[in-house]
Amino acid sequence: MNLETVLSVRHYSDDLFSFQTTRSADIRAFKAGQFTMIGMGDNDILRAYSIASAPTDSHLEFFSIKVQDGPLTSRLQHIQAGDQIEVGDRPTGTLVLDNLLPGQRLWCIATGTGLAPFLSIVRDPSTFARFDEVILTHTVRTARELAFAEMLESRPIRYYPTVTREAFHTEGRITDRLASGAVFEDLNLPQWSADCDRIMICGSPAFNNELRADLQARGFQHGTNRAPGHFVQERAFVMQRGDPG
Ligand code: A2P
Repeated sequence: MNLETVLSVRHYSDDLFSFQTTRSADIRAFKAGQFTMIGMGDNDILRAYSIASAPTDSHLEFFSIKVQDGPLTSRLQHIQAGDQIEVGDRPTGTLVLDNLLPGQRLWCIATGTGLAPFLSIVRDPSTFARFDEVILTHTVRTARELAFAEMLESRPIRYYPTVTREAFHTEGRITDRLASGAVFEDLNLPQWSADCDRIMICGSPAFNNELRADLQARGFQHGTNRAPGHFVQERAFVMQRGDPG
């Protein structure tokens, strides 16, 4: 673990915040979509966090839930610029573009803090060399949880936010909007096909499972380091609401 200095912190709601830190030279090079460990240095509690900054950025960025009695996030949520935290020096993970076959369109489908790895992917210039079009969907409970919306609107992507617990122009779970075809209609894009579309999934276990079953029923194959496929998903490395924190 390295000690990194907190550069800035942003709070979105009682449940969500993001922060930037320095990036020591000895943090191993990482691919967009990978995660590393974070701790506070004062006990043994470490949690895996997807890196939200680009591999080419000189700082690191993370997006986190806050759990009021969580072993790590009850304290991490109070960090301020100038504080130090521990960051693992060996990022890893399989939610990476290298595990996808070449394709035309890249879809990044996130719920809650599952957005984090996709922030890195859409900030990484190499993403746009691989795909003609990049679509990022983010589903959250309330509109104020649409963290990073301004940045995402400024990227060369199709940003498609959905909100499930209040009125919104694109309301409801992304899984329902995919099943009804609303997403494809709204974006004026054809239904997914294994020839053209590559899908990255990051969110809660129930959401991951539902979408994986849907994709497998469509004939999409899960990609791995050894055998790239039509979709990839991260199961364990994003803390979500309901996790111990
Ligand atoms: P919902 O409000 O209907 O539960 P959370 O904040 O709990 O991590 O959830 C983030 C978003 O993911 C919420 O908008 C939530 O919708 C949605 N969600 C939760 N479970 C699923 C699922 N199985 N499929 C699709 N979306 C889900």
